[in-house]
Formats: sequence, C-alpha cells, structure tokens
Amino acid sequence: MMPRISRLAILLLPLACSPKDESESQTPSANAQGPALTEELTYYADIKPILEQNCVNCHRVGGIAPFSLEDTNTALRLHKAIAHATQTRAMPPWLAGPGCQDYANDRSLSEEAIQALGAWSAAGAPAGDPVDYVAPPPQPEQLSRVDRELMPLESYVPKPRTNDYRCFIIDWPDTSTQYITGAGVQPGQPEIVHHVIAYRVPPQLLGAVKAMDEAKAGPGYTCFGGPLEGGKNLPQIAHWAPGSMGRDLPAGTGLKVEPGSKIVMQVHYHTEHGTNPADRSKLLLKLDASVDKEAFVVPFTNSDWVNNHTMLIPAGQNNVIHAYGAPFTQYAASFTGGQLSASAPLKIYSSALHMHLLGQSTRLHVERKDGARGCLLDIPRWDFHWQSSYVLKETMTVNPGDRLNLECRFNNPGPKDVNWGEGTEDEMCIGFVYVSP
Ligand code: HEC
Repeated sequence: MMPRISRLAILLLPLACSPKDESESQTPSANAQGPALTEELTYYADIKPILEQNCVNCHRVGGIAPFSLEDTNTALRLHKAIAHATQTRAMPPWLAGPGCQDYANDRSLSEEAIQALGAWSAAGAPAGDPVDYVAPPPQPEQLSRVDRELMPLESYVPKPRTNDYRCFIIDWPDTSTQYITGAGVQPGQPEIVHHVIAYRVPPQLLGAVKAMDEAKAGPGYTCFGGPLEGGKNLPQIAHWAPGSMGRDLPAGTGLKVEPGSKIVMQVHYHTEHGTNPADRSKLLLKLDASVDKEAFVVPFTNSDWVNNHTMLIPAGQNNVIHAYGAPFTQYAASFTGGQLSASAPLKIYSSALHMHLLGQSTRLHVERKDGARGCLLDIPRWDFHWQSSYVLKETMTVNPGDRLNLECRFNNPGPKDVNWGEGTEDEMCIGFVYVSP
C-alpha cells in the first residue's frame, strides 16, 4: 500500500498547478472532486491531521468550542457540519478578508484542505484504518520561552449567563527596565475565557486605575472598552484569543516596561451557565533586558471622537461610516511623546482593529504621498468575539508624509443614539499598530 501522505499529495497535486494554465484538459477542481479520487479519502489518513492542525486548539475537551474534534466519533458524526463550516469559511474563525495582505499567523484553511473535507464528507465520511494516521508537524506559532507568569491575586467567579469583562491589576516585580519580547495566556477556565488583553500601566496612571479597582467589590473591576474611564488608552502589551498558542514578538523588537509599572489584565468571560468555576488566568511573558529596537503598540483613532463625542451613530440608522486619517509618523511621534520621530520612517509589523457590537466592517490602510495605497487589514464581516492581531509576513515601511486611514461601518437598529465610550452599549473605532523605528 502507498504511504497515505503521498496519496493525499497526489490527490491534491492538480490543485497546486496554476489555475491559469489553460492547456490543462481538466480544471483542477474538477479533478479533485472526481469520484475516483474522493472515495479514497479517509478520516484517519487525510482528515484527522487537518483537524489536529487547525481545529483542536479550540475543539478539545475543556476548550472554548462546544465539542471536541479530537474525538473520532464526534468528527465522523459531524462531518456535514465540518464540511459546511469550512466551506463557508466560518471556521476556523479568521476575520481578515482576502486580497489585502499575507499574514504570518493566518489560520484560515487552505483551499486544498477545504476541498478535502468537502470531498470526504460527500463520500460519506469513511473512517479508514487508524494505522494510516500520521501526526501533523507541531505548530510553528508558539511562545518560545516563558520567563514570567503573572496572575491576579485572587481567583474570580464570573457573572452567570452573560459577557463579563473584568480588569485585574497585577504587580510588576522588576526593579530594572525589561522588554516584553513574547506573550501568551494560559486561561484558568478555557471554556469561558473568550479573550485576554494585557495593558501596561505607567507609574503616572496608577492612581486612576487603582481608584477604579477600589470602587468595585471583589477581585478586579468591571471594564469593557478598556481599563480606564472615558475610553482612554493604556499601552497594550499582549492580546490573546482562544486558539492562540502565544507568540514571540517580531525578532529584535520588544515592548518596554519600566520599574514601578503595573499590569492590567482584562479578561472577557463568556458564560452560558448559571454557575461558573472560579477563574485565575495566567499571563505568560518572554522577557529580555534589552532589544535592538523598542517597539510600540500605537492605538490609532480620532481624538475628536474620544474627547468630543463626535462619532455619532444615530438611532435606527444603518451603514453609518466613520473615517479618520492622519500622517502616521507625526501621529506616532505625538502618541509616544517624541520617543518615535515624526521625520523618520516607521516599520509596521502587525495591526488589529477594534469596534464593539454594532460594528459591521472595518479597515486600515496606508496612503502614500504619491497616492498609492497599501492595505494593512480589511475586515469585511466584523465579529466582536474573534478579535486578534494580524502579523504581516513582510513588514510595511511608512515614510514621513504617508497617511494612515481608518474606516468603521456601523448598523444601529436600536432606539438610542450611540457614541464613543467604553460601555457595551457604546462604540469604538480604533486601529492598533505594532511599530518600531
Ligand atoms: C479559535 C477557536 C476555534 C478554531 C480554531 C475552530 N473552531 Fe470551530 N468553533 C469554535 C467555537 C467557539 C464554536 C461555537 C460557535 C461560535 O462561537 O462561533 C465553533 C463552532 C464550530 C462548528 C459548529 C457550527 C458553526 O459553524 O458554528 C463547527 C462545525 C466547527 N466549529 C468546526 C470547526 C472546524 C472543522 C475547525 C478546523 C478546521 C474549527 N471549527 C476551528 C471555535 C473554533
């Protein structure tokens, strides 16, 4: 018998050919869906490796997803749902639209894998023989080293049947400057922890954060749009969503944490049950005493929206678009208090976009002085639950004079006008850009 791996390779081979090659007598997809080939696909040989590599980060016992795809019977029973969810690209969750950028952390399925799942399901989901299973290679995207684990002082029991956003203040023990060069999260209760964002609180803002904490009973305090009132931003140092294995920051770069700082960890709990286990999630950090280039997470938004509430989304109105653009090196210089220079180029490594629940679509792009456009991130269907940051395969350089443009589209079916704010009922429109000189 042929080794199964090469058999899958043969099956998929036509797909690897250029689809533009018109001398081919059969189109690649006609080949891949031909009955002679599809009847050979089996769960153990072909499908289990795809599920292991792309799905079980979330679909495992105790994971965020509602069923485990490590379980053979479940995978066989749900073959139609698996084929459908992957064909529609609902799964794995990945919000970035096509045609904008190539991302190093892209977890969307390849066309080949989608076709294989569909063909296997169409053939009645044969199980095949367990000896044919070959484990896929380990995931490349992982935190390479953990130097520090940080946790809230106490565990917290989230509110039942709701979305509970809780901020915990955590001490920073170092007495010398450190750089965060990688981050991940180990959720205490993976089935209810929907995302975690860690912020650095510089010494001068400690008072404001402590006041918020002291105003609320129990561990931590309620926070939705961020840890500070008024929708003000603290520097982000880590962003985690289910399925992520943590990640090193781009080589040579890191985020500075000064002695005397604290960390605020925002945890979004999504709870469906009446009683919940107590959670104490851990922030995992890779630290270095120095880096080649200090990097910054620059939150890019219109200060007028934040300070003067000019981001009106009128009651009952759909397709309300708010847009903002600014020369980016100047913006970054001003945000960092001159630590980044307005007159020198900046390198963009990754970006993220943030809105709340009325957001429909959003995008971020660079507009060159000569009018050329560089797409950074385009999210055609916004989903608050699957926010993440998108790491460029190749960094993008922004020169002085180039503009960064941000656009957010909202639907407001409700009876109330909505504007900027940190509450669940308020909205935001922010791009986050990870940059260094
Ligand atoms: C990042 C986490 C994550 C990954 C990775 C993931 N899923 Fe899911 N999946 C979920 C969650 C959570 C749900 C529950 C519904 C929801 O919240 O969207 C779900 C629901 C589903 C459903 C139910 C139907 C639906 O569309 O809601 C199917 C089928 C499914 N996933 C298949 C897959 C397959 C197949 C893969 C891999 C190719 C995969 N998922 C990867 C988190 C994930």
